[in-house]
Amino acid sequence: MNTKKLAAERAVESIEEGMTVGLGTGSTAYFAIEKLGQRVREGLTIRAVATSKRSEEQALGLGIPIVPFAEVGRIDITIDGADEVDGNLQLIKGGGGALLREKIVAARSDKMFVIVGEDKLVETLGAFPLPVEIVPFAHEWTLDNLKALHLNPELRLDNGDLYVTDNGNYIADCHGVSITDPAALHASLNAIPGVVENGLFVDMAHTVIVGRENGSIDTI
Ligand code: 5RP
Repeated sequence: MNTKKLAAERAVESIEEGMTVGLGTGSTAYFAIEKLGQRVREGLTIRAVATSKRSEEQALGLGIPIVPFAEVGRIDITIDGADEVDGNLQLIKGGGGALLREKIVAARSDKMFVIVGEDKLVETLGAFPLPVEIVPFAHEWTLDNLKALHLNPELRLDNGDLYVTDNGNYIADCHGVSITDPAALHASLNAIPGVVENGLFVDMAHTVIVGRENGSIDTI
């Protein structure tokens, strides 16, 4: 059962005529963008803001009108995946490296719909390494500051080279951290000079749509 597709397609049913839609990034968001493209071809009129170059390219290829962030006053619904979702609907995102734009777009949205397969549901966040976007300048010192918080950061690589985000930054993936207080960790991370943003999405998810292996869909 493709649980990602199940959740993604259910989320797209909520998109209505005239809406401005935030397009997430990743393999689950991919299915949502495909479905939205189908609805646009069938006559739905919407406009969209993308959270990454690859989502923008996919959307444009499907005929979904993309507008620059600066041109939208607000976004009605953003549909995006997640790497982990806990029982309080707090999230880890950024496995796909797009966390900064994803967080900006979600923050500008009336509603954030999170689409996941049931394997993404966890009791406590942190088994998935927490991505932190850091600026290249003085990144070694930023890593030292992350180490001082016992976050075990590792710079993300891409085919042996340093991974570079759409914003020209690096990602430090923080391993083995059991995140019992996401809001506190979020604040500590963003207080470090050199940290641009982190992958904790605290109190941002409006609805989580979960695709189940048995073919059912839950909305939390
Ligand atoms: C990208 C993200 C993705 O939403 C997250 O990594 C989930 O990806 P996938 O849908 O491929 O499992 O945050 O930055």
